[in-house]
Amino acid sequence: MKKTKNNYPINNYLNNHALNKAISFHMPGHTNGRGFLSSHKKQLGKYDITEIIGADNYHEATGIIKESLTKIAKKTRCDQSLYLLNGTSSGILALMKYVSVKKGKILIPRDAHQSIINGSILFDTEIVFAYNEIHKQYLISNPISLIQIKQSLLKYPDISHVLITSPTYYGFVSDIRKISEYLHEKGIALFVDQAHGSHFIHNKHFPISAIRQGADVVVESLHKTQNCLTQSAIIHGNKKLIDLTLLMSIVKFLTTTSPSYLLMANMEKALLSDHNKAYNRLFSTINFFIKNCPYPVLKTNDISRVVIDIREAKLTGNEITKLLHKERIDIEMATLTYLVLITTPNNRKKDFLSLLKQLNHLEKGEKKENINYLINEPVQVINIRKARNMPTRSIQLNKAIGKICGTIIVPYPPGIPLLYYGEEISQSHIDYITLIRRSGQAVMGLENDYIKIIEV
Ligand SMILES: Cc1ncc(COP(=O)(O)O)c(C=O)c1O
Repeated sequence: MKKTKNNYPINNYLNNHALNKAISFHMPGHTNGRGFLSSHKKQLGKYDITEIIGADNYHEATGIIKESLTKIAKKTRCDQSLYLLNGTSSGILALMKYVSVKKGKILIPRDAHQSIINGSILFDTEIVFAYNEIHKQYLISNPISLIQIKQSLLKYPDISHVLITSPTYYGFVSDIRKISEYLHEKGIALFVDQAHGSHFIHNKHFPISAIRQGADVVVESLHKTQNCLTQSAIIHGNKKLIDLTLLMSIVKFLTTTSPSYLLMANMEKALLSDHNKAYNRLFSTINFFIKNCPYPVLKTNDISRVVIDIREAKLTGNEITKLLHKERIDIEMATLTYLVLITTPNNRKKDFLSLLKQLNHLEKGEKKENINYLINEPVQVINIRKARNMPTRSIQLNKAIGKICGTIIVPYPPGIPLLYYGEEISQSHIDYITLIRRSGQAVMGLENDYIKIIEV
């Protein structure tokens, strides 16, 4: 591995990263800059402008930004779109504020992204959980189904909004059409966190984008899977059940007054250009990879999300990730038993051949058991929002059984919380945390071997 050193820690790291020319199977979807247009690369400084004459104003768009968003809404087939310049997280915060302004109650999946919980805490939004079922064969959490929504509505008939995550990190989608039809009959609005699916509009072999299947609002991270700079995201809305003027004004309240034209220019190109053929080429390369991979590849709904089952490998997913990194291949995520790759049309056959070579070198061992990270329905002793503001103290993790969690415990990646504020810590939580830490996976919310609990 090539190395340089200077006095600037971040620059130093990035210089070395660039020198290494590693293969990227992870976000951002521009794949280490391969997907950037040469005009954007060359004109970086000149494109990074502010609201000069003719450049319009994000917060009160009447010119080029409005025109751009109108074209995107038309292509996406929704009533209104708005660039999000601080990731999907900022769109999700706006949705949580919207529900709180409407004095509603929102159903969210247990595998919700942290920003959903952060939003509910920030804006005092009433949330209830729908519990994901576990995929019988793969033992990963499925996206929320209509059955789970029906069950939740029986339990909480006053739910006014539903938010689901589709696709999941593993590339599985919910039946948005059926869910939206069912909810709309009851006058309930559907929000979809499609952070990992902004590319769906580009090829018919992908699932149909949620907004085209009846979702009322969809948020997407373009930076995850498309040729866009980190933080690039967008919100699409339909006005039938949603006050879009209110929602978009909340988004703007949460947005910088110095919006990045680089981000907007990136997103405009990514969404409005035709990538159909490029994806067809990617699919045939992925098919080649699947046929030649020494380990099974999961059948997901999003063909570009390559999930490799490495249970038969001697090493864990995290150990393999480190090994691949040494060989200048970086992947998106690993669990004990899976490797998750984000692939884009920027990935060439050569990239997949390099990966195959490394996978073929791995020693096989006794088949590892799959484990599921959504252990069981935790006991919520104190309301999350209330628990967030209660005094805490730290104790050793292995002494925390039966105590009430005073933090959010998040295995990272994928950044989906295992335990929330106010939930009872069980033996199975501790066993699971210990197991994944031992395998090298990071767990946020812990301080070494200590966890914050609430004093009651
Ligand atoms: C399912 C899901 N939703 C939302 C987000 C937040 O997206 P962003 O990083 O664009 O803020 C993520 C990011 O990892 C995610 O995985």
